[in-house]
Amino acid sequence: MELSSRPRRLRSNPNLRKMVRETRMDKSSLVYPMFVVEGRNIKEEIPSMYGQYRYSVDRMEEKLTELMDAGVTNVMLFGIPAHKDEAGSGAYAQDGIVQQGFRKAKEVCPQMYLIGDVCMCEYTSHGHCGVLRGQDVDNDQTLKLLAKTALSQVQAGADMVAPSDMMDGRVGAIRRMLDENHYENIPIMAYSVKFASSFYGPFRDAADSAPAFGDRKTYQMDYHNRREAIKEAMLDVAEGADILMVKPAMAYGDLIREVKDQTNLPMASYSVSGEYAMVKTTAAAGFIDEKRIMCEMAVSAYRAGTDIYITYFAKELAKCMEEGKIG
Ligand code: PBG
Repeated sequence: MELSSRPRRLRSNPNLRKMVRETRMDKSSLVYPMFVVEGRNIKEEIPSMYGQYRYSVDRMEEKLTELMDAGVTNVMLFGIPAHKDEAGSGAYAQDGIVQQGFRKAKEVCPQMYLIGDVCMCEYTSHGHCGVLRGQDVDNDQTLKLLAKTALSQVQAGADMVAPSDMMDGRVGAIRRMLDENHYENIPIMAYSVKFASSFYGPFRDAADSAPAFGDRKTYQMDYHNRREAIKEAMLDVAEGADILMVKPAMAYGDLIREVKDQTNLPMASYSVSGEYAMVKTTAAAGFIDEKRIMCEMAVSAYRAGTDIYITYFAKELAKCMEEGKIG
């Protein structure tokens, strides 16, 4: 048979397959999200996320060392305070839980790059991502608190801040606050394209941050929208974001690609708690191969344009990259 092109020819040998591979990745691009909780000597499993734990500050070192040993050099910290209030004051307290976490992480693992998730929902009694006026989040009042939160995290040792609240103007407000305090070299990774998604369910268990009423649809994006994703990304670029993020990752590859092609900033994507929980539970039931699914999901995110991949599987992926299973 005369065929002008035989795509199978380039798949005929494993070395050749690797040579022609289009998506290359490296464990230096992985970020591990980690939960820090108040109390002592705590390492408690998150029920909806098998294999993921909340750590008290005094137990952080073992996890950070384990990550470092695996070649994961970047973590994003989330704080879970013992007390929540209307104004989410724990988010910007100098000795708040996440601030303590940053100080400890810097002390015990100075080579680790530390990113702060900047939001109010883990700290507010009502679980919304800002302060309320009536039944809705007051955008402009919240901006002041977010800027304070970012500053307090940086003062405690965060190397980068990542606002995830979805208020309008937060990147600019945080940039101004950091600059005024001579932190002009601290980058902002903006959760620019963040959808009102059911994929965050297990995280809200982990952080006890589900909204007490209503939902997040007045601030997080409607997942029917693609052009609006570009609008959000462009606004964050204009306000001074250094890195853009699309979240969740798995069901949003189209937008990772779209934002990547239309901007010139590094692209992050966040493979969120629901993605993790789906893989873990389905694998535990014996229906899928956990490791292979995890690899395939990661490669698809990178193939879509991800430069920085935030994932609860960071350590396991680093191992697969090391072994040459992917990358
Ligand atoms: C805080 C925040 C959330 C996540 C990251 N930052 C929860 C939310 O927006 O409800 C979700 C992460 C995950 O699901 O893994 N706003």
